Amino acid sequence: MSDTAKFSIHGKDVEYPVLSGTVGPDVVDIRKLYGQTDAFTYDPGFTSTASCQSKLTYIDGDQGVLLHRGYPIGELAEQSSFMEVAYLLLNGELPSQGELDGFSRTITRHTMVHEQLATFFRGFRRDAHPMAIMCGVVGALSAFYHDSTDIRDPQQRTIASHRLIAKMPTLAAMAYKYSVGQPFLYPDNSLSYTGNFLRMTFGVPAEPYEVNPAVERAMDRIFILHADHEQNASTSTVRLAGSSGANPFACIAAGIACLWGPAHGGANEAALNMLREIGTPDRIPEFIARAKDKNDPFRLMGFGHRVYKNYDPRATVMQKTVREVFDALKVNDPLFETALRLEEIALNDEYFVEKKLFPNVDFYSGVILSAIGFPTSMFTVLFALARTVGWVAQWNEMITDPDQKIGRPRQLYTGPTQRTFVPVGER
Ligand code: SDX
Repeated sequence: MSDTAKFSIHGKDVEYPVLSGTVGPDVVDIRKLYGQTDAFTYDPGFTSTASCQSKLTYIDGDQGVLLHRGYPIGELAEQSSFMEVAYLLLNGELPSQGELDGFSRTITRHTMVHEQLATFFRGFRRDAHPMAIMCGVVGALSAFYHDSTDIRDPQQRTIASHRLIAKMPTLAAMAYKYSVGQPFLYPDNSLSYTGNFLRMTFGVPAEPYEVNPAVERAMDRIFILHADHEQNASTSTVRLAGSSGANPFACIAAGIACLWGPAHGGANEAALNMLREIGTPDRIPEFIARAKDKNDPFRLMGFGHRVYKNYDPRATVMQKTVREVFDALKVNDPLFETALRLEEIALNDEYFVEKKLFPNVDFYSGVILSAIGFPTSMFTVLFALARTVGWVAQWNEMITDPDQKIGRPRQLYTGPTQRTFVPVGER
C-alpha cells in the first residue's frame, strides 16, 4: 500500500498519494487539490515544489552530491568530455566510441551560422553586454531555421537540439569578437568542440592559432561543470516557455535571459567583480561584515545555494582547476589567494555556518576564466554556452512527458475586491 498525505481544510478531509522517485525526497501529488478543496498551495520561489519528473540530474544538497544520469559530477569532470556528457544527458547512456565519434561529427557539422546572422550583430553597439547580444541572436535563430521549429516532429526536435548545441560556441565567440572590434572567425571543424570555440574566440585571421591543450582541457571541464543542474531558475524558464509550444530557439533565449540575473548565472561575473573590489585579503572582514548586515543589500557573490547546504561539488573541482590553468599559463592572480582566504574566513564565521553558505560553482570560475583571457562580461555567456546542453535535454524531456501541459500557476490574490468605476470628473 503506497503512502498517502492526509489533511483537512475548510472542514474537509482530503488525502493525496505520496510518489517516490528512485532516490531523493518523495512528492505529494496534489494535482486534485484545487478541484477538491477550492484552495491552492502557496510556495513563492518554489522552495518545496517539484515541477516535473526528470531522469536527467539528481542533486542531494545535504551530501553535496550531483549526478548526471547517475554518474557523479567529479568522475565526469575528471574522466569525460563535454561532448560525451552532452550525449549522456540527451540519450541517457554513456556512448560507445563509435556513438561518441558520430555525435561529435554531427555537432561539428552544425557549427556554422547563417551568414545573415553576422549582419545581425552589426545592429548592436560595440559596448553592448555580450549577454544582451546572446539573448537577441539566439532568439533570432528561429528566423533562420524554420525547418526545425515544429516541436511535434521528433526529427526536427533533434536537428534543432544539435543546431543549438553546435552554434552556441560560434555565437558566443562572435559576441566576444564584436565587443573587441575584431573580425569573426569561421569554425575550424578539424578542432574539438572546445578547441574550436577557443580558436574562434582568441584566434585572428592574421596568424595561425595554437590551442593550448591544458587550457582546452580546463575549458572543457568547466563546460561539464555547467552542463545541467536539475530544475534551476533558467531551466524552469526553458521548460515553462516550452510548455506553451514555443520553438526551441525562443525557449533557449528565454533561459539565457533568466540565467543573466546576478542571483543565478550572473553570479560568476559578480563574484570576480566583488573579488576585485575587495582587492587584498586585509579588506575581507569589511565585506564579511557587510554580507552579514541585514540593512546592507550586499551579498557574498559566489556563496550560498538554494539546494546545496553543504559544499557545491562543482566548486571543489573548480578550485582544483584554478591551479592547473595557472601552471599551464604560467600566470598567477593574487585574487585567487584573496578568494581562498575569503572562503576560509567565511567558512569559520558562525553566520555562514548557521545559514549553510558555501562557495558555489560561480565562486572560483571567474578566476580561471580571467586567467584564460575572458573579460568578466563573457563569464555568463560561457555559462549559457554550457548550460544549453542541459536546457535542450530538459526541453526534450518536457516535450515527451505525457504528464506535461502548459505551465500556468495560480496566486493568492490580495488586491481590491470588485468596485465600480468612477469617471475622472467625479474623483
Ligand atoms: C547558481 O539553482 C541552481 O541550481 C543554480 C545554479 C545552477 O547551476 O543552475 O547552481 C547556479 O545560480 C548558483 C548561485 C549563484 N548565486 C550567487 O552566488 C549569488 C549569491 N547567493 C545568493 O543570492 C543566494 O545564496 C542564492 C540566490 C544563491 C540562494 O538564495 P535562497 O536559497 O533563496 O536563500 P535566501 O536568499 O533565502 O538566503 C537564506 C539566508 C538569508 O538570510 P535570512 O533572510 O535567512 O536572514 O542566507 C542569506 C540570506 O540573506 N544569504 C546570504 C547569501 N546567500 C544567502 N548572505 C550573504 N551572502 C550570500 N551570498
